[in-house]
Amino acid sequence: MILLGVNVDHVATIRQARYRDETNTHGGFVEPDPAAMAWLAEEAGADGITMHVREDRRHVQVEDVQRYLERKKTRLNLEVSLSAEMVELALSLKPESVCLVPENRKEVTTEGGLDVAGNLERSREVVRTFLDAGIPTSMFIDPDPAQLEASAEIESPWVELHTGSFARAWFDSENREKELGTLRSGMELGVSLGLRVNAGHGINYQNVEGAKTLDQVYEYNIGHSIISRSVSNGLAEAVQTMRRMLNE
Ligand code: PXP
Repeated sequence: MILLGVNVDHVATIRQARYRDETNTHGGFVEPDPAAMAWLAEEAGADGITMHVREDRRHVQVEDVQRYLERKKTRLNLEVSLSAEMVELALSLKPESVCLVPENRKEVTTEGGLDVAGNLERSREVVRTFLDAGIPTSMFIDPDPAQLEASAEIESPWVELHTGSFARAWFDSENREKELGTLRSGMELGVSLGLRVNAGHGINYQNVEGAKTLDQVYEYNIGHSIISRSVSNGLAEAVQTMRRMLNE
């Protein structure tokens, strides 16, 4: 069985679109609340929750993570960059795992994988710091043999393969097979190197049919498509409630 980690960052994206520079979430009363959505996702069958606290705090706030942790039922996979500030923050939050991601302030979302091979010593140091604290690390990398080998070399127990190229190629049947093949080779190499292989980015209700054929993937981390669907599926109730309250 492939596990499902639900990424709730985009709940916070919707909130921050209105409350842009506001870091006070007023105990979750500012809607939509990522912690409340994480608890709902857990009740609905999520095997774990992912949150990414970015250096610029553009979506998830530290307070969201702290509130989620107060009543979490599964486990938190916290995404952070390799910067000293973020490593310290992650250690203080004590998640069950950490996924190390690249951060570029201009990107809309995490656009490429981490260059572990090109940042071997810093990556090794960060992985060791987390492992010493009892927190397993996952390197978010492209399905590139050099990055997989570098992740194994620095003894990160897990990797997360970036599935963005596969997701973008989904509507182009030739490219789709090529990208799926690249992911399959990456998965097989990762497993042969003794790594636990997770995957994610851009997985949705269409391309999951292809993604799930990568059956040695331990867990998929999926965010945007699930949060998007929850917005449309919840609209009728939201309108009915406001309509009723206006006229009561
Ligand atoms: N995995 C990582 C490391 C990510 O940064 C993201 C996006 O924030 C995801 C998975 C989930 O991607 P998506 O929101 O496209 O499902």
